[in-house]
Amino acid sequence: MRISVIGCGYLGAVHAACMATLGHEVVGIDTDENKVSELSAARAPFFEPGLETLLKEVQATGRLSFTTDMSAAQGSSVHFICVGTPQKKGENGADMSYVDAATSALLPYLSADDLVVGKSTVPVGTAARLHEIVRSAEPTAELLWNPEFLREGHAVSDTLHPDRLVYGVLTGSEDHPAVDVLDQIYAQPLKDGTPRLVMDLPTAELVKTAANSFLATKISFINAMAELCDAAGADVSLLADAIGMDDRIGRKFLNAGIGFGGGCLPKDIRAFMARAGELGADQALTFLREVDSINMRRRIRVVELTRELCGGSLLGQRITVLGAAFKPESDDVRDSPALSVAAQLQLQGAVVTVTDPEALVNAARRFPELHYERSTDIALQRADALLLLTEWQEYRDLDPYGAAALVATPRILDGRNALNPTKWRAAGWTYRGLGRP
Ligand code: UDX
Repeated sequence: MRISVIGCGYLGAVHAACMATLGHEVVGIDTDENKVSELSAARAPFFEPGLETLLKEVQATGRLSFTTDMSAAQGSSVHFICVGTPQKKGENGADMSYVDAATSALLPYLSADDLVVGKSTVPVGTAARLHEIVRSAEPTAELLWNPEFLREGHAVSDTLHPDRLVYGVLTGSEDHPAVDVLDQIYAQPLKDGTPRLVMDLPTAELVKTAANSFLATKISFINAMAELCDAAGADVSLLADAIGMDDRIGRKFLNAGIGFGGGCLPKDIRAFMARAGELGADQALTFLREVDSINMRRRIRVVELTRELCGGSLLGQRITVLGAAFKPESDDVRDSPALSVAAQLQLQGAVVTVTDPEALVNAARRFPELHYERSTDIALQRADALLLLTEWQEYRDLDPYGAAALVATPRILDGRNALNPTKWRAAGWTYRGLGRP
């Protein structure tokens, strides 16, 4: 099948490459010339494990190309909208300008019976609105919503082997003709047993925001328990292990720490609350405000604990922050809790050095005032305190004896509860976790 993918960021670039792997002929379209030239040279414009290898493999087949020219969408029968929906500046709602611009730019190139398939995370009601716009340009074209659930760091496998496929169609019914077309596109994952659910457009849009809200709630729940554990002298990691053994609860997404960040969960819960307000259902989501505030409190707590760890004052303290990305296996620093803490510490008088295996270029763009060092060993030298804020494997594997020989004072705050406290204490470190005695 000939497919166009509009928007080649974390979602679209991976989707384009994966669709080509599945045997389709794909053109990826993006307004960013730099991104297009990187992708055309089979280089991933961001760090995503497995993406570059995949790009090389599929580009060799001639089935995948990238361009900034929207007219390249002409001739494709299916057009995926994969552009971003960031938080609006100064407001909680989602900025829909990229989705709207991509859709309007596509309209002149639509042919009879084309499908426009939305994948971006959008406020409920967007699909119905875009359907009208698409229909006014091409009366036989159809708009569908097919939300994407990929996690950064696992994007390739999440796209090729999703947990489920959700098809939102205007009628909400299995016998809608577009269902068959999407089934052909996803023939391989469906053959591998991926369940697929057909539903109406608003339900499909809501599945994505509801899923992300649930994940955010789960993380904030365990972080609230960490606050209680701190107050009561209990251990949140053991608590999570124990409650997680109940398979109605499950252990995943119960890691207490400095909280969630990234380009999705924080802005998605805010946009969801804003949309609920517009729909007159704001009370239904007031709990998400609490989820958000528990999450933001984590960052303040880490700054306070660091001050305690440093003997009551941050002034002039040399602090090394391990990790800048919002999570491991990513170079994404959007709303990164690690960087937000690093910047706060620096503002309060600490001398902060940040290290990360992949995210330093992006971090320096966002917070140019911080000092960055790629080498972990150099970053550790003469530090008064270490903060583990993104749990990259190489930081989990740090040797506490070797590290103790580099720092000025062996103090560590484990912001992800990723280290073994007994081991670090045995090597002479003052160890603090979050919600751990
Ligand atoms: C998320 C959803 O998981 C994905 O399904 C959706 O498509 C996009 O948003 P992503 O933003 O890539 O994916 O990251 P995710 O793995 O969900 O982690 C989000 C944040 O939560 C990270 O900052 C992570 O460190 C944090 N987190 C996760 C915790 O603090 N504790 C946990 O137990 C799990």
